[in-house]
Amino acid sequence: MAPDRASVQELIERAREVRRRAYAPYSEYPVGAALLARSGQIFEGANVENAAYPTTMCAERIAAFAAVTQGERAFDAIAVVTLNGGAPCGACRQVLSEFGGDLLVIVADAKGQIHLETKLKDLIPHAFGPQDLVQP
Ligand code: THU
Repeated sequence: MAPDRASVQELIERAREVRRRAYAPYSEYPVGAALLARSGQIFEGANVENAAYPTTMCAERIAAFAAVTQGERAFDAIAVVTLNGGAPCGACRQVLSEFGGDLLVIVADAKGQIHLETKLKDLIPHAFGPQDLVQP
């Protein structure tokens, strides 16, 4: 179910807050994410970088993996907060799409201003998914 405006604002606030705990000494580009599960629970993530650069993990995937490991598999919305409203990377779009393209994605900047609000399926059209793994 699509969240109401108050829930969207709360998600953005949660993403702004958790962004402060990002570990991003290399890029200096902290990202915060707040993922709203169908249960009503909100799962947070912030990017965690590493001196071995490719082992870095994005905020969105940390939130998604935290939620799934708590037993959640249905999601209604995710708010992502970056300095300038940069949108989720391709890897995060793919991971989120596993759980449905109707997810509402809200991207806001550090001041909380919304830059993008759209369905995940519009961010990753024709995504590879479970339906593609048919046996020959
Ligand atoms: N980053 C995210 O956390 N989410 C995204 O969707 C895009 C990029 C992080 C990874 C890295 O720590 C920093 O932003 C710069 O790429």
